[in-house]
Amino acid sequence: MRVLLIGSGGREHALTKAFLASPRLTTLTVAPGNPGIAHDAPTAPLTSLAEVQAWLATHPTDLVVIGPEAPLAAGWSDAIRALGIPVFGASQSAARLESSKGFAKQVMQRVAVPTAAFRVFHDTAEASAFVRQSGQAWVVKADGLAAGKGVIVAESMSETLDAIAQLAALPAGERILLEERLYGPEVSLIALSDGQTVLALPSARDHKRIFDGDEGPNTGGMGAIAPLNSITQPVAQQLAEIVMQPVIAMLAAHQTPFVGALYAGLMLTEHGPKVIEFNARFGDPETQVILPLCDGDVLLALYAAATQALTPATLGWRTGAAACVVLSSAGYPDAPRSGDVITIDPTKIPANGTILHAGTRRDGNQLVTAGGRVLNAVGYGADVVSALRTAYATVDAVQFAGMHYRLDIGQTELV
Ligand SMILES: Nc1ncnc2c1ncn2[C@@H]1O[C@H](COP(=O)(O)OP(=O)(O)O)[C@@H](O)[C@H]1O
Ligand SMILES: [Mg+2]
Repeated sequence: MRVLLIGSGGREHALTKAFLASPRLTTLTVAPGNPGIAHDAPTAPLTSLAEVQAWLATHPTDLVVIGPEAPLAAGWSDAIRALGIPVFGASQSAARLESSKGFAKQVMQRVAVPTAAFRVFHDTAEASAFVRQSGQAWVVKADGLAAGKGVIVAESMSETLDAIAQLAALPAGERILLEERLYGPEVSLIALSDGQTVLALPSARDHKRIFDGDEGPNTGGMGAIAPLNSITQPVAQQLAEIVMQPVIAMLAAHQTPFVGALYAGLMLTEHGPKVIEFNARFGDPETQVILPLCDGDVLLALYAAATQALTPATLGWRTGAAACVVLSSAGYPDAPRSGDVITIDPTKIPANGTILHAGTRRDGNQLVTAGGRVLNAVGYGADVVSALRTAYATVDAVQFAGMHYRLDIGQTELV
């Protein structure tokens, strides 16, 4: 199978490694990739849809896999499918589950998927008036894609009003959502869908804040663990059937089937699991810990999803656990510094440990930082303790000025 993978982060490096393990793979090209990916597979410097289309015109391809949200929201899947090539990645319409939080809430309401009560506002004055009248704090969300900067969990009415003003100023803030605040542990649930069938992958937990103990500003994600003790594989599949299947069915009924990875951010509240948000793609860093737990051919599974052939038996699951520790650059998330020289000592990487690249760049013969989240140290083990031990031992193989990482990844799962 000849495959083009689009993206350049740690998620795509994890997908690259999974694809390379497939006996069915003949060629893999990653566009644009990063230096870690380029070490493992050929890359092509394609960054626009026109460049991808031109490349596909001269490179016969059996499957295109799209990693990040921006190309999905921009309709790259639709354009590539129109060339007759199977695509694993949501259409522009289906990707509205992520690119418009208001759309996602309306769909959930229509098909009775449990989620926080909400109101959508087109006008900040109306939203503010509603908040004053309610006399309480709300979770404030910008409707559109905001790269993790579009949600403020306000603690008071005045913070809510400030949050509305702040988020309305974003390009994503043309519409504002006010949501009831929920309480409980969060879970990342990711499933493959071929438009009809949903196949839940192992449950995972991200760690969003920059500092230990969930302190400090939000980030793209500082680490992950999978699976969660309380969400075994049968429970994950049950949850997917409750919170995803009705949404998948509705999108199919509207001729906008969801083909790709559907991500539900769940909160386990005292009234049961509720959906905080959907993403129309694999999570990053969750993918880095989920793929090592898949038993079977991940590439064939994505091909099955892209060609409407997914079944419950498409993948099996390995026992054990995986952990990922994100190594971030100085100044992240506010003002990440680039250009710090990275050294990796491969002799220090333990068995079952892997280093994935995210924000790195080649500068002559040196590897340097080129983004907020620089590298991922991933460990697999028989249980959470050993996965974490391996992930943190892998961290010790890396050095760069200003390197930061959390020391408490996976602590919630240590029983
Ligand atoms: N209704 C809610 N109640 C409590 N916390 C929430 C609520 N909505 C969002 N959050 C918190 O804010 C975080 C970010 O919100 P989310 O909707 O996932 O937006 P995004 O990932 O696009 O920034 C969530 O992971 C959760 O911790
Ligand atoms: Mg989120």
